[in-house]
Amino acid sequence: MNKRLLALTAFLPFAASAAKFSISAQPFGEVDGKAVELYTLSNESGAKVSITNYGGTVTSLIVPDKDGKMGDVVLGFDTVGEYVEKSPYFGCIAGRYANRIAKGKFTLDGKEYSLAINNEPNTLHGGVKGFDKQIWKAKVGNQGHNPSLILTYTSPDGEEGYPGTLKSTVTYTWTQKNALRIRYKATTDKSTVLNLTNHSYFNLAGEGSKTVLDHRLKINAERYNPIDSTSIPTGIAPVKGTPFDFTKSTRIGKRIDQENEQLKNGIGYDHNFIMKDSRDGKIGVVAIVTEPTSGRVLTVKTSEPGIQFYSGNFLDGLEGKGGKVYSHRSALCLEAQTFPDSPNQKEFPSPVLRPGETYIQTTIYELGVQK
Ligand code: BGC
Repeated sequence: MNKRLLALTAFLPFAASAAKFSISAQPFGEVDGKAVELYTLSNESGAKVSITNYGGTVTSLIVPDKDGKMGDVVLGFDTVGEYVEKSPYFGCIAGRYANRIAKGKFTLDGKEYSLAINNEPNTLHGGVKGFDKQIWKAKVGNQGHNPSLILTYTSPDGEEGYPGTLKSTVTYTWTQKNALRIRYKATTDKSTVLNLTNHSYFNLAGEGSKTVLDHRLKINAERYNPIDSTSIPTGIAPVKGTPFDFTKSTRIGKRIDQENEQLKNGIGYDHNFIMKDSRDGKIGVVAIVTEPTSGRVLTVKTSEPGIQFYSGNFLDGLEGKGGKVYSHRSALCLEAQTFPDSPNQKEFPSPVLRPGETYIQTTIYELGVQK
């Protein structure tokens, strides 16, 4: 069988209780003369996620609303060419270092490293050709009753200025309960810094819907990182008494346009919220988003110490799937991560990975409904 046209439906052996799922792979065009694929993992209810091995990018996530009507809740494009040409990191794996490193410089074990400045005056999301722009090796499989896609990428020593040959594996699993589980693993042959995340832009009313300002958000964080005017953290501050207090579920639009220096620096919300002080590996619920008209609920769980809440401030009418227009603040990202600029900020959890160690992260985006 032509591997590129592989379409496989799996029925697990135990007939009575068997959960059914399917995985299909289709050609998704070429990047730099190399073929890329689009994989679709569907569960028994017909809810599904599509992921391309270009950038490990989630291109669609189709789940029911409160009436059972299916809708796509992530922004994206119809062709890989558009991802290459104009994607603001839609759905991708951002790395090696997701988020910003101040002035594109850091010192590790006494040696200074210089990175590309691709977001003046800083480096953002791994540099000019980060993990979002790489073609990952893909293998389909299953985790018990759930379909999965295993992506691997080996980043050579010195790529984008980072030390060490870094071998990364990202396993996407689409569960029978409409949860997208993302498990990251990485090892290096030289000490390096690392911060991997998934950069999906969600609109729970359906991609292409106007804004996310009526979505309600709860973040289990008492502290966050205030930022300077170039979006680099300036320390740690309590959320209490500020527009950053999402400890109770709050409409995103409620305070976003308040006169506030931090909202001004982020041009809205574009800040890291602090879950814990270290990477302790324990997975907990960090955020819950609810959208009143569709009834959809997104629960984010992660083992990471921080989560970047970005309110789509730089979206400005980009044309996406089916010609839909993605307007200002028409999506939100909740990017599980270690803190921005931690290679330069000693009081933040360490982003250092040493030879012999394994970086492990699990993040889960669970889609449900409330009536
Ligand atoms: C950053 C934003 C940036 C967006 C798209 C987010 O992770 O925090 O500042 O505009 O990614 O690049």
